[in-house]
Amino acid sequence: MPYLSLEGVAHMSEANGTIMKAENVVKLFPVKKSSLLAALTRKPPDYVHAVDGVSLDVQVGDTIAIVGESGSGKTTLARVMLNLIEPTSGKVIWRGKDVSTLDKNELFQFRKDVQIIFQNPGGALNPRKSIFRILSEPLKLHFNIKSGSELVDRASEALLAVGLNPAIHLDRHPHEFSGGQRQRICIARALSLGAKIIFADEPVSSLDVSIQAQILILMKKLKEEFGLTYIFVTHDLALTRSFASRVYVMYLGEIVESGPVEDIFMEPLHPYTKLLLASTPVPNPKRARSRETIIPVGEIPSPINPPPGCRFHTRCALAKAICKTAKPVVKTVGNRSFACHLVN
Ligand SMILES: Nc1ncnc2c1ncn2[C@@H]1O[C@H](COP(=O)(O)OP(=O)(O)O)[C@@H](O)[C@H]1O
Ligand SMILES: [Mg+2]
Repeated sequence: MPYLSLEGVAHMSEANGTIMKAENVVKLFPVKKSSLLAALTRKPPDYVHAVDGVSLDVQVGDTIAIVGESGSGKTTLARVMLNLIEPTSGKVIWRGKDVSTLDKNELFQFRKDVQIIFQNPGGALNPRKSIFRILSEPLKLHFNIKSGSELVDRASEALLAVGLNPAIHLDRHPHEFSGGQRQRICIARALSLGAKIIFADEPVSSLDVSIQAQILILMKKLKEEFGLTYIFVTHDLALTRSFASRVYVMYLGEIVESGPVEDIFMEPLHPYTKLLLASTPVPNPKRARSRETIIPVGEIPSPINPPPGCRFHTRCALAKAICKTAKPVVKTVGNRSFACHLVN
């Protein structure tokens, strides 16, 4: 695989260290009100606190999992980190540079390096185009390749890398593929551009369980082969165990706990993490006890006026008076962090 493996070698030679960082990222969306209502009530505009002060550090070769219920701000955080939307405040650092200050060439490099695959792989593929066109058009754009045979070679290589036979598949259209195959094509497209960081936003949520496992195994294999770094967004904590190196648990726009994946599973610290684990069907006798003390209460509150104090207090069976008024500071012990008044 001359083209892909060359890229791979380039990835490997990169010194270990931070490749990307979010620094205190905030993203608020204004809530649209009718102008009449706004004039009558004279209230300041409301905001959806989609992401509210998130910092995270991505090391070369990491598989970061960002986990939380629907509505916790995972996709918004990913979109900010991908430089698709601007943060309200805070910064995204890529290779030591604030992405909002990248010049045209750097931005071009960023768009090659940092790729995304989505939950619904069908929607990411133009139904009118053949797989060859889907793979070759971004190659033309990013590498300025004119030679038809080189485009065929590169597209074929990328398909082979994700386990699809180019001789059979290059001329086909997206509707001729299963969901799992379509996700493979999306991964092939990211690979062919020489992606170094792949954001995967719920990449297997729409797939059958057996296909989910195949895609995750493929992604793991590709990570080793090409030295990739993943940022994996999911509502399903159980999925992360075999896959992630580090887990960030997100609740109503904030990170409530982070740490190495095994620590999170063996000894979750934050009541919300415990709740997420209690709702995953992984047998663990140690955990059965804690399940009794953590009773999920109600639904995730609105991010428009998030609860004061600890945002989780309205659903936390252990909440004390202080949780309702004071925001917990983030405590760091070794390589773990958590924000809870009740954990020391
Ligand atoms: N473009 C937008 N405009 C207004 N609100 C938004 C927008 N995008 C997301 N939100 C809101 O931000 C919150 C977080 O959404 P999202 O990042 O999609 O969470 P998740 O991916 O964890 O489900 C939700 O309440 C959602 O409705
Ligand atoms: Mg989402």
